[in-house]
Formats: sequence, C-alpha cells, structure tokens
Amino acid sequence: MYSKKVLEHFTRPHNQGVIKNPSGVGMVGNPTCGDMMKIYIKVKKDVKKREVISDIKFETLGCASAIATSSMITDLAKNKTLEEASKITRNDVAEALEGLPPIKMHCSNLAADSLREAIKDYQKKKKQ
Ligand code: FES
Repeated sequence: MYSKKVLEHFTRPHNQGVIKNPSGVGMVGNPTCGDMMKIYIKVKKDVKKREVISDIKFETLGCASAIATSSMITDLAKNKTLEEASKITRNDVAEALEGLPPIKMHCSNLAADSLREAIKDYQKKKKQ
C-alpha cells in the first residue's frame, strides 16, 4: 500500500527532533485523526541576503504517512528561501514520496500547513 520512498522515510526519518532557540515554530493538528505535527525552523541570510531555512526539524505524533511527509518536507524545505519554502504544497510532498494512498492524502496537509505556520511565526516575531 505504501511506496518504497514512504517506507524509507517512515523507518528512517530525516531531521527528526527539536531545534533549540528556533527562528519559528509551527504546530498543526489533524482534527480527523487527532495526529499532531510540529516544525522548527532556523532562518539565516545567504550571500545574496535572502532569508533561507538553514535548519529544520520536526516532531510528529501520527501515522506512517504523517511521519514520512514530515521527513520529506524537511528535506524539500532545507536551504530554500522562505518564499520558495512557503510554496511547497501537499502534492509536492506526496509526489516526492512517489505517491500516497488516496485515503492518506489528508495526512500530507499537516506537513505543508505546519511549515507555513513556522514561517508565519518567524515573520510575526521579526515584526515585534
Ligand atoms: Fe492522522 Fe495520518 S491518520 S495524520
């Protein structure tokens, strides 16, 4: 039922854990199943003075798809500018995982939504 890529990221997730003193944190829960995802980002300026996600980690309490999509979104967002990272969609994540079973597509919302929340959190803190 799961692709090889999903199983790889579920059994050996990338970037799992916490960032101390993060630039932004996003937490989203799935009302249907009660699963939760938290994403931490560290933002730095690159040589062109663009704001880039230099580090990203996740903590997820959820199903295999939720873990795999968390892991994949951290890979997709790392070293991207905030603008590029905020354009990552749930379909991008599902495609990078070589597909998710249709009944599991809702799980990929958590990843894209919590990344956007983390970026929003960073932007809010920056204004203060
Ligand atoms: Fe809850 Fe997948 S069943 S996130």
